[in-house]
Amino acid sequence: MSKIALITGITGQDGAYLAEYLIKKGYVVHGMKRRSSLFNTDRIDHLYQDPHKENRNLILHYGDLTDSMNITRIIQEVQPDEIYNLAAMSHVKVSFDTPEYTANADGLGTLRILEAVRLLGLTKKTRIYQASTSELYGLVQEVPQRETTPFYPRSPYAVAKLYAYWITVNYREAYGMHASNGILFNHESPMRGETFVTRKITRAVSRMVLGMQQKTYLGNLSAQRDWGHAKDYVRAMHLILQQDAPSDYVIATGITTTVRDFVKMAFAEAGIEVAFRGTGVDEKGFIADVDETAFAAAVGEEYLEGIRGRIGSEVVNVDPAYFRPTEVEMLIGDPTKSRTMLGWEPEYDLPALVKDMMQADIKLMKKDSFLKAGGYRILNYFE
Ligand code: NAP
Ligand code: GDD
Repeated sequence: MSKIALITGITGQDGAYLAEYLIKKGYVVHGMKRRSSLFNTDRIDHLYQDPHKENRNLILHYGDLTDSMNITRIIQEVQPDEIYNLAAMSHVKVSFDTPEYTANADGLGTLRILEAVRLLGLTKKTRIYQASTSELYGLVQEVPQRETTPFYPRSPYAVAKLYAYWITVNYREAYGMHASNGILFNHESPMRGETFVTRKITRAVSRMVLGMQQKTYLGNLSAQRDWGHAKDYVRAMHLILQQDAPSDYVIATGITTTVRDFVKMAFAEAGIEVAFRGTGVDEKGFIADVDETAFAAAVGEEYLEGIRGRIGSEVVNVDPAYFRPTEVEMLIGDPTKSRTMLGWEPEYDLPALVKDMMQADIKLMKKDSFLKAGGYRILNYFE
């Protein structure tokens, strides 16, 4: 018999990679998707199966984390062996604009799942993974951050996730549930949402090298993040639920990098050296040099003329609109527990992640006339 998994947030970055990973492992995967006026399944379209087909291994259900009756009904119907609660309003800056909704979905949503499992008598059958976050460390109390580091959340998002973290621990201790937190540090990919900083950068740099955009505006260039690849991180989620006992794990690379250096690395993928001058809101990034051989190989000879004319010009400005009311300045995780207890090792380092994202975005921008005209949408990354 195949194991049955239920993934909330299956249409998001991690949900898509996890669904693909579990299907390859022989699982039947059920996913919760939100009703939307536009299709929101682009990231999982390559896995989609006609509902009329028998023995499907991907089945989608309409649902929302703010609706307990809906959650309870889906869990009752699916009778999952494993639940991966990945759904969330996941954008830190947006959570300052929608704090109540964020608390409802990201905080209470987790309670609704735990309580549904308990009320349905599934506490012994169903294992639960909660998508916890390095944002819990916020104003960091220890460097690097590990499972025992005290939390200090710095946004409505992180505070909602703090509730979700502790209610998961509480249900584990109170009812003996196999419920675990993965405290995941930032993880990115070509499928990352376009408003998170790494993807915003790789999209903008790809458009700039193709002559489709002049510059990009960013917020805090000195923020430091421990960035890994989402493909590696969904393997860790699965490993956490395969352990005999539930527990909480930091998943991270152990290396931290500034946003500024990520910008430099993204341009370097196209053979372009970017330097920064000035400080604070007056800091500017500009093209210092171009390695034409590397540029031609990464982007194409036909774009060389355009980039030659841009040496010395500005490509990055700071816009305080992207600053957060309270910022998380630096995150760096200590993944010792996950390495020793789960045997988890990431395959991608940061240069490999940047290369993957840049190659995918250059390809994407080249082929889509809608994007060339300045449009924003996610395309099928699996083509
Ligand atoms: P993402 O790309 O933003 O995906 C979020 C998913 O949640 C989407 O499928 C979204 O649906 C769904 N969703 C949002 N609100 C919902 C609601 N009220 N009811 C049902 N579904 C809802 O996020 P991600 O990067 O894959 O992250 C997955 C999870 O890990 C999130 O909980 C996030 O907070 C957490 N996390 C992420 C990172 C990271 O670096 N990526 C690190 C630590 C923790 P739509 O597609 O319809 O919007
Ligand atoms: N989004 C964004 N846009 N961030 C910017 C920008 C910009 O233009 N300029 C600088 N930054 C800085 C932010 O201030 C932050 O310090 C850092 O870049 C990373 O921002 P995001 O990519 O938006 O990610 P995040 O760290 O706030 O949150 C992500 O990671 C968390 C794990 O630590 C999200 O995926 C969360 O859901 C996740 O929990």
